[in-house]
Amino acid sequence: MISRNRQTSDNLQLQQRLQAYLFAGRSVVRAHVHSFGCQQNVSDGERIRGVLEQIGFTLTDQYEDADLIVLNTCAVRGSAEDRLYGILGNIKHYKTRNPDLIIVLCGCMASEEHTAEYVRTHYPYVDIVFGTSALDKLPALLLEHFEGKKFACDTSEYEADEFRTMYESLHPSREGRFQARVPVMFGCNNFCTYCIVPYVRGRERSREPEQIIEEVRGLVQSGYKEIMLLGQNVNSYGRDLQRPVSFAWLLQQIDEIPGDFVIRFLSSHPKDATRELLDTILQGKKIGRHLHLPVQSGSNVILRAMNRRYTADQYLEIVDYLRSRDPDFSLTSDLIVGFPNESPEDFEKTLTLVERVQYDNLYTFIYSKRRGTKAAEIEDHVSDAEKRVRMERLLQLQRNVATKHYQRFQGRTMRVLVERESKRSGYLIGKDPAFIIAEFPGSPSLIGKFVRVRVTKTHNWAVEAQRIEE
Ligand code: SAM
Ligand code: SF4
Ligand code: F3S
Repeated sequence: MISRNRQTSDNLQLQQRLQAYLFAGRSVVRAHVHSFGCQQNVSDGERIRGVLEQIGFTLTDQYEDADLIVLNTCAVRGSAEDRLYGILGNIKHYKTRNPDLIIVLCGCMASEEHTAEYVRTHYPYVDIVFGTSALDKLPALLLEHFEGKKFACDTSEYEADEFRTMYESLHPSREGRFQARVPVMFGCNNFCTYCIVPYVRGRERSREPEQIIEEVRGLVQSGYKEIMLLGQNVNSYGRDLQRPVSFAWLLQQIDEIPGDFVIRFLSSHPKDATRELLDTILQGKKIGRHLHLPVQSGSNVILRAMNRRYTADQYLEIVDYLRSRDPDFSLTSDLIVGFPNESPEDFEKTLTLVERVQYDNLYTFIYSKRRGTKAAEIEDHVSDAEKRVRMERLLQLQRNVATKHYQRFQGRTMRVLVERESKRSGYLIGKDPAFIIAEFPGSPSLIGKFVRVRVTKTHNWAVEAQRIEE
């Protein structure tokens, strides 16, 4: 085992050598980090930004200004990968203009076995590639690059305990001033048959609760108003720890932290949504009365083929329990249309479920074949055109359902956290703890504050409101 002192002095030496290269003939070096994926991916991007700042980079929002560009990728659907390859194509021009520009590819695509090789052969101007587990490796890879290596690549994985130690040593450079992402765990053990995530993010590793609680406490003390706890399946948080704890327990501890803030979390797997968790949300003081509970399909045949390990009825039991305690309880979900060989009857069951649940929002995706997953081996007999028709029907249904469902907010007051200016001039966008979007007139000076509003009009995805004095 290498001692901590030895590690620190090795790191310092590495940093000094790196800075000699970086600042040779210039006083400022700029880095741009673009994260393409989910909240977890953006959170990793914040850690990578922290690593870059520590070695002396100044962060920039612009590709054009950057001496180093990090593309933090997503592999969940083919469309995400296509977009990335499009951007890589465009970046070639920056490299032609500035041959010293360093291009780094990381994140979930970089962790796919075939991608690193594909990038090396088709995009030779990419200098560095590292995987989701290697968040701290960028300085060493940069040094290899400066010392002449053409393609510095590290997609190795840490053992669970090494990963935890490495992760806690990183300091995020956060994108938000009042909303903070706090990962509670990494990876996924579920192997839904369509999904690439377990292959690119590895097995579940939970952070120690003390570290999470300490991080949240610090964030609240420095003025953060929204804490978003993250994991691919937060409901299985803590099972892999030496002293196992439940996610519900963790939520209760965070709910007890003094301060005016709201707690959100993503994502929950229905098979692990225990009564303890549901009651914790219902009784929480700071926990939004909202659950993002991805259902994926309303058909038991498809749910089985997806390896989701719950039935539509079991899913509805959770919904009914929540709504029996709070009829307004807000639910959102993810749905996949056109899983291989989804029949018209299967799809009708999805429509029936959507109508029954009354979601406040749905994230809908056409199934995308992911190399290496189980579902990719199934021969699919449903045409792309049919899948698009089904998607359109689903979206239309959700618009109708939500138009009616949102009417429950008419005339009500809400306490919202103001997030940003709206596209409509003079208006702001805020969210209430149940994740309901409100648009209302107000000054940008309110951004980052809680305000009270009264709902004047409802739509199928948001409400319009007027500010009222507290
Ligand atoms: N771990 C979360 C869960 O199980 O609910 C979400 C993970 S994934 C990043 C977000 C969503 O992408 C999934 O809920 C699913 O609806 C969708 N998704 C994942 N793989 C997909 C695929 N191959 N094709 C289409 N959609 C997919
Ligand atoms: Fe993918 Fe399923 Fe894991 Fe979610 S729970 S990340 S959908 S394998
Ligand atoms: Fe994409 Fe990886 Fe997230 S595949 S959705 S960035 S976990």
